[in-house]
Amino acid sequence: MTQAPLDPATASPQARLDIRNLRGSRIREVSNAGLHLADVLPFWFGESDQVTPAFVRRAAADALDRGATFYTHNLGIPRLRDALAQYVSRLHGATAADQVVVTSAGVNALMLAAQLVIGPGDRAVAVTPLWPNVIEIPKILGATVETVSLAFGAAGWTLDVEQLLAALTPGTRALIVNSPNNPTGWVMPRDAQQVVLDHCRRHGIWILADEVYERLWFGDGPSAPSFLDVATRDERVICVNSFSKSWLMTGWRLGWMVLPTSLLGDLGKLIEYNTSCAPSFVQEAGVAAVTDGEPFVRELIVDLRTSRDHLVAALSTLPGVEVHAPHGAMYVFFRVDEAGDSLAFCKRMVRDARVGLAPGSAFGDDGEGFVRWCYACKPDRLDEGVRRFRAALAR
Ligand SMILES: Cc1ncc(COP(=O)(O)O)c(C=O)c1O
Repeated sequence: MTQAPLDPATASPQARLDIRNLRGSRIREVSNAGLHLADVLPFWFGESDQVTPAFVRRAAADALDRGATFYTHNLGIPRLRDALAQYVSRLHGATAADQVVVTSAGVNALMLAAQLVIGPGDRAVAVTPLWPNVIEIPKILGATVETVSLAFGAAGWTLDVEQLLAALTPGTRALIVNSPNNPTGWVMPRDAQQVVLDHCRRHGIWILADEVYERLWFGDGPSAPSFLDVATRDERVICVNSFSKSWLMTGWRLGWMVLPTSLLGDLGKLIEYNTSCAPSFVQEAGVAAVTDGEPFVRELIVDLRTSRDHLVAALSTLPGVEVHAPHGAMYVFFRVDEAGDSLAFCKRMVRDARVGLAPGSAFGDDGEGFVRWCYACKPDRLDEGVRRFRAALAR
């Protein structure tokens, strides 16, 4: 049966097809089903239950008092670009201020990076399970995204590097990789980064590295392995980062990226037409975070490690649950026998047990059967969550 064409005079206004085809966030679908309920323990979003540290809040308040309320340069205030260049250089080797650009949060940096290099009809490859925004952004731009799945086994989440290389065929426009990974906590090892970089160099493939959790990792040294450690600053590598996770600044919307200076002119135009600049007093707070924030970050990691170990130990005792300690980020992504339909399972958990979790299917088809639990809170809150979760499992 053929459909009668819509009458443009009477049809309700619609977004274009690519946008209508985007998947809505299933994390939001669960939280929308539970936010109105009393006494829900929220483990569904990727943020700590603590407010931004006082020294950062103070820097923003001081900047406001000084009148930092105007537009800034598209690429960020020089003070912040300088401070970020020093910070990145300490972690990953020499990086100049003109290789760093300030953005309005990590997700804006992801969009800008994708807009710079990915266009309609391009093919991108992403390692999944993965935070949905990273997959949907290239689709907004008309690209297709193929996925390479991490495997879940006794060693936790692992990547078959050969499988990834096979997917990175000549003609592929970009690899999008998030390490430490949301939701799995998987961390791409340095040797794998080197192999992948060599391959992408040979085939002219861009690497968009989402490293917003680089400081939240439980290995040796101050940061997880970064593509910035193996790449030069003038090749096809864009590293995206954020103030949200390391300094608990989710609501501030401040991020940055490290990229070849040859892109700056075009990036400046894109920023002008997106946000024009990040808010000026927020940028001043960012200077305080990266300059004075090391003691805070060190303490944060100690607390996160304690919470991670606490939650993994508690979940390991539950029947029908398989869990391994993640190497980074702030989530445990674990398999639950009863969560074959993880969206329905998480809706049931919030309705019946008042425990707010994120369904594995929100992170791609290969996340189905899993549940994500953000553990960035005190152990006693985790205990109460596990107690409710255990009781609801048995029902
Ligand atoms: C993998 C990943 N990338 C980027 C972001 C963006 O963070 P923001 O936009 O708050 O800087 C998030 C936030 O949860 C994330 O999980």
